[in-house]
Amino acid sequence: MGFPRHRPRRLRTTPAMRRLVSQTTLEPRHLVLPMFVADGLDAPRDIESMPGVVQHTRESLRRAAADAVATGIGGLMLFGVPREDDKDATGSAGVDPDGILNRALRDLSRDLGDETVLMADTCLDEFTDHGHCGVVDASGRVDNDLTNRRYVELAVAQANSGAHMVSPSGMMDGQVVAIRDGLDAAGYTDTAILAYAAKFASGFYGPFRDAVGSSLQGDRRTYQQDPGNAREALHEIQLDIDEGADIVMVKPAMSYLDVVRAAADISPVPVAAYQVSGEYSMIAAAGEKGWIDLPTVVLESLAGIRRAGADVVLSYWAVDVARWLS
Ligand code: PBG
Repeated sequence: MGFPRHRPRRLRTTPAMRRLVSQTTLEPRHLVLPMFVADGLDAPRDIESMPGVVQHTRESLRRAAADAVATGIGGLMLFGVPREDDKDATGSAGVDPDGILNRALRDLSRDLGDETVLMADTCLDEFTDHGHCGVVDASGRVDNDLTNRRYVELAVAQANSGAHMVSPSGMMDGQVVAIRDGLDAAGYTDTAILAYAAKFASGFYGPFRDAVGSSLQGDRRTYQQDPGNAREALHEIQLDIDEGADIVMVKPAMSYLDVVRAAADISPVPVAAYQVSGEYSMIAAAGEKGWIDLPTVVLESLAGIRRAGADVVLSYWAVDVARWLS
């Protein structure tokens, strides 16, 4: 019954000791802020299920984006919310150079230049009247290959509007190679692709659908993945790497940390993870009730995602965290 020989607590005795041996870093540059810009608003509109997050007007977006970039975060991910009567079956408002997302990209590109990494959601769901991520055929099925053609138009329009990175999030087969070829053919060889490679059909997207005023009835289970399928997620990730993705993403993050780790172990390109709307809202709600200490839990959740192997983390708290860290 001697003394324990191994005392890991020695390295926890002082803040300086803990700092010396800290194994996971979280810096503002690792974080990307998703932002919403809506057409036809006079003032920013609160998103009820995401306290603290708003739909921006073009003007308020410009100010918020400049403030966000000044905190040193890694990038901005922009989502567009069209007017209800601009939605149609093929998501034309997404492709239209005068659609809200493309206009906002031009605003931010002009304001910020190369000071940040400007990313755009490359998907149809915000712009379609049926709310699906693709074009729907007569039987109501999302047509994979027709959708990819539309994604190419979207991606080229976004690149033309100043996006440094397009982000296909629709989970169509072959979407990355289609977009890569389309961008290259249009001369956008330097526009990068952040691929939503393993995206699960998740209940955690609920608040986001409020945020973008989604028209979806039903679900996305014919294109997004079954939450239980880890092997399939690795297949999806490998395909996107082979198709030319510059970054591969796992989404949601916190319930899929094993997938983040598996991606980090095999990927030759950076791995991103998206702490999605429902993850945000749960923590925000518990914080508002005083049931948890918000900053502690937010930092812990992001450290967990980084520890699992994510190089880049999309989080609605990106700016708050950058401020807490400085
Ligand atoms: C699709 C898209 C979604 C999210 C990002 N891109 C919604 C969906 O797939 O239903 C969800 C993001 C979040 O929940 O924070 N364009």
